[in-house]
Amino acid sequence: MAKPRVLVTRRWPEKVERVLAARFDTTLNETDRPLTQREFAAAMKDFDAVLPTVSDRLPASIFEEPPLRTKILGNFGVGFNHIDIAVAKAAGTTVTNTPGVLTDCTADIALTLMLMAARRAGEGERQLRTGGWKGWCPTHMLGRQLTGKTLGIIGMGRIGKATAKRAYFGFGMKVLFFNRSIIDDDETRAMDAQQMKTIDEVMAASDFVSLHCPGGAENRHLVDARRLALMKPGAFLINTARGDVVDTVALVEIMKQGAIAGAGLDVYEEEPAIPAGLTDLENVVLLPHLGSATAETRTAMGMKVVENISAFFDGRDPPDRVA
Ligand code: DGY
Repeated sequence: MAKPRVLVTRRWPEKVERVLAARFDTTLNETDRPLTQREFAAAMKDFDAVLPTVSDRLPASIFEEPPLRTKILGNFGVGFNHIDIAVAKAAGTTVTNTPGVLTDCTADIALTLMLMAARRAGEGERQLRTGGWKGWCPTHMLGRQLTGKTLGIIGMGRIGKATAKRAYFGFGMKVLFFNRSIIDDDETRAMDAQQMKTIDEVMAASDFVSLHCPGGAENRHLVDARRLALMKPGAFLINTARGDVVDTVALVEIMKQGAIAGAGLDVYEEEPAIPAGLTDLENVVLLPHLGSATAETRTAMGMKVVENISAFFDGRDPPDRVA
């Protein structure tokens, strides 16, 4: 029987590309150039599986030119707000993602941002590299410490919990959280983490607010001007979730007013564009969506996709089906 035709939309870790090439009739993207919308629509007619990633865009129009050959989109990434899931479902296209394997990696980046923002690490490095450092003195570039502070988590899923654990066990932080469903498990009890009824309560009571909820229409600008205004004057906002969860214009404005102490961002609304005003602020740490960027994690993400599409083509239910 002919092997399924599989298209990989970007370069993946070599080891995973090798496994895909051995198992399927695989077309790799040697140049790593992102596909255009027209190329995506054509691929949906030509391949049995398309393997997109979080920087691709798969709106309704991609699914609207039947007959479609693509039966499964094996997404490389846990977030899937770049795919019109409702339309994919209606078109009979299965969609899978890669949960679980990027939990620790992303929680590490949340802590990196907390430390960098609170200890002014970006600012300090810029000063040193541009020759502006005049030497040690008792009042030079004083930051804030994490120890003993309160961390507020919005979205206590896998990554939210892993971030909370690092903060509680590593830095002696108190943990508050908001989550839509009630969470009462051993992990959360061991951290003495307190579930609050509203996001507003978490915003108002935390020294660090860390976002761990999905992006997309449902959570668009969940953190808006009103909620930012609830934050303590010395507080920091950390976003490793999705850019659209925060109203960036409102964030820039509140930071310009000095109403919060700083922010640490790994994700942006229109990546790779960085919203106007952010790069002018010294007290915001900006990373280029590095949450899952370790060799180990990216390989594990790729192998999850292999697992999902292998199950699908073997006639089994893919373990990480989201549509
Ligand atoms: C994901 O998988 O959704 C992450 O944002 C990639 O780092």
